[in-house]
Amino acid sequence: MVPTQQTALLLPEKFGDWTVGSVDVPTPGPGQLLVKIEATALNPVDWKIQVYGMFIENFPSIVGFDAAGTVDAIGKGVEGFAVGDKVVYQGFFVNPQATFQQYGIANADVTAKIPGNITVDEAATIPLGLATAALGLFDLYAAGSAKLFPPWVEGGRGKYAGKAIVIFGGASSVGQYTIQLAKLAGFSSIITTASLKNTELLESFGATHVLDRTLSEAALVAEVAKIVPAVEVVYDAISIASTQNPAYDIVAPGGTLVLVLPDQIDATKKSAASGKQIVNVSGNVNIPDRRKTGQTLYSKLTALLEEGAIKPNRVELLPNGLAGIPEGLERMKKDQVSAVKLVAQPQETV
Ligand SMILES: NC(=O)c1ccc[n+]([C@@H]2O[C@H](COP(=O)([O-])OP(=O)(O)OC[C@H]3O[C@@H](n4cnc5c(N)ncnc54)[C@H](OP(=O)(O)O)[C@@H]3O)[C@@H](O)[C@H]2O)c1
Repeated sequence: MVPTQQTALLLPEKFGDWTVGSVDVPTPGPGQLLVKIEATALNPVDWKIQVYGMFIENFPSIVGFDAAGTVDAIGKGVEGFAVGDKVVYQGFFVNPQATFQQYGIANADVTAKIPGNITVDEAATIPLGLATAALGLFDLYAAGSAKLFPPWVEGGRGKYAGKAIVIFGGASSVGQYTIQLAKLAGFSSIITTASLKNTELLESFGATHVLDRTLSEAALVAEVAKIVPAVEVVYDAISIASTQNPAYDIVAPGGTLVLVLPDQIDATKKSAASGKQIVNVSGNVNIPDRRKTGQTLYSKLTALLEEGAIKPNRVELLPNGLAGIPEGLERMKKDQVSAVKLVAQPQETV
């Protein structure tokens, strides 16, 4: 029996304090699923919404963009899912589709079943990070993508053999999925920046070279030049000024730089260089113009996970369910999270 009330982590007003409270359990509309959320992951956007007052205007608001759990009810017209299925999906910027709550609404066309080799907690680390990696590099339909051919579509695997890609911030959640997709796409040189303690992990995902992220901008550019003569695609998963500027220097004329945050590249650099494309990714498969690529990705996600072609981020489980999230967000804000995804279990809220 689906309850009518549930517990959620609420942002009562713009810039307000996180508060655990009670809200209605939503009803799935056509094409949607009601999911009992057993695991939700934390993302930088969650604390940025609270601190900077961005993206959300209707309060009280619920946020959270990564969910995994059990299908509890099914909307009209949905095929391929049954009550009791374990599923993973990405949340969105409206309360019923947010994930810091015990029950949420998923769009079935961008939801995947969780295979047996992945836990529900691990599955929750996937949606936002993977979407940002996938849509930034491989969205053939929307602007804000390098528009490479997706490796999850037939004919896409290995297509970029012989090519090089540079990924700033390989240990971030987005970076880890970007490395794995680059490997599937066949890139021969996958050069990434990280704290060197994360080298082994990133090599296990497919990185061929891990450069110390504390190197100076000039040293990084020089190190990359020693490894490969030209780089057509650079993905900056960190996108602060100190990564964007060397990233822009590294990308070859005619190549593409993918950013995950607004452009902060020196204007003088840009006027001096020609033919370098900069694109800004919107990493959510529920955005209307991103949905088509999201559908193709989610139609293959279960198989990719089962095969081990995409591995989840490492999990650190937070205590106290939804009530433990604010402390986790504080740690993220202070840059105290390295190569791990913080995950909360909403059903365990105390
Ligand atoms: N545009 C969009 O739609 C979109 C979507 C998702 C995320 N984002 C943004 O993308 C960024 C990354 O998100 P995330 O969830 O992947 O972050 P995350 O997992 O929380 O990032 C933590 C990691 O960042 C790495 N890092 C920090 N500063 C670095 C630097 N200067 N160079 C290289 N690595 C650095 C650290 O690596 P080490 O541990 O190796 O030091 C750490 O492991 C955030 O700013 C987020 O807001 C945007």
